[in-house]
Amino acid sequence: MTTILAIESSCDDTSAAVLRDDRLLSNVIASQKVHEQYGGVVPELASRAHQQNIIPVVDAAIRQAGIEKTDIDAVGFTRGPGLLGSLLVGVSFAKSFATALGKPLVEVNHLQAHVLSHFIRVDSGECVVDSTRGQVLPTTHYPLPSFPFICLLVSGGHTQILLLKDYFDIECLGTTIDDAAGEAIDKAAKIMDLGYPGGPVIDRLAKEGNADAFKFATPHIEGYNYSFSGIKTSFLYFLRDRLKEEPDFIEQHKADLCASIQKTIVSFLLKKVERAALDHKVRQVAIAGGVSANSYLRSELQRICQKHHWQAFIPPFQFCTDNAAMVGIAAYFKYIKGDFADISLPPYTR
Ligand code: KG4
Ligand code: ZN
Repeated sequence: MTTILAIESSCDDTSAAVLRDDRLLSNVIASQKVHEQYGGVVPELASRAHQQNIIPVVDAAIRQAGIEKTDIDAVGFTRGPGLLGSLLVGVSFAKSFATALGKPLVEVNHLQAHVLSHFIRVDSGECVVDSTRGQVLPTTHYPLPSFPFICLLVSGGHTQILLLKDYFDIECLGTTIDDAAGEAIDKAAKIMDLGYPGGPVIDRLAKEGNADAFKFATPHIEGYNYSFSGIKTSFLYFLRDRLKEEPDFIEQHKADLCASIQKTIVSFLLKKVERAALDHKVRQVAIAGGVSANSYLRSELQRICQKHHWQAFIPPFQFCTDNAAMVGIAAYFKYIKGDFADISLPPYTR
């Protein structure tokens, strides 16, 4: 049995988790509220908040897991990509902690961690819907994806269609050529003055709106690649024109606007995922990353998978946005391969 302490600090969430093999014992996340008033993450403030949060968060993760520090076999940490000042806090802490304990370090790529979150076992708490059987199951009873499978990784910083042939044999089939999907959603929310991060607010308001009320064009991009900057601009220009005629247009049509822009983005995302799965004859499709918390994306993926008799893998909410549990599962798979990190390794931002 292997006990891993994992640390995530790549952006604006300070998180620590403890796993025993692939089972999650604790997952503590301190989200930084300080960025809300600025409408986006301020890197300097993020690294300062990580400094304040890291010790209490790690302490809480160890206590909640019911283990002693001496039980830890390895320390896993996000090495990149992310904000340098944020990464430095987690990386330095992990190195010091592992050195003090005399235990090995395991470096983890943040994007791989998001995708591998599908392999975390949870004994209690959240349940997931088994799309093939229409049942709600605790995650311990939920079938894990088997290779090969396709994963749409959608977050505030990344939008990629990945083909997983093994835990660390991952082919990127397509990526965004400009903004990430989450970034586009957050910018649409900002235009409507809905606060930051706008994704969860758009998701909530969209439930009351008509998704066909307004149409926004999606670009024609080669292969499995995406582009989101045009959608954002067409949304901005659409509102600018309407506001000239009707100054309270946003207030009057908020739910319809949210539902329509959400449908535009989700349909664009899933059209290419469906194509990729058909082309590669893959019958299992997963989503990961912060935007995978979106309820419309989750239900649409299930609908498409049911249509094709594919299996959909939808992560529990706690593993969608940034968290250390996903870093822990990636570190566990590297630990059993004996893939350890040297203490001199610096973080990387891209
Ligand atoms: O993975 P994540 O926590 O951080 C990055 O690595 O970027 O993703 C954050 C992104 C933000 O853009 C946020 O608005 C979006 O995920 N997000 C959502 C939802 N929850 C978070 N977008 C749409 N619907 C949601 N329910
Ligand atoms: Zn992330």
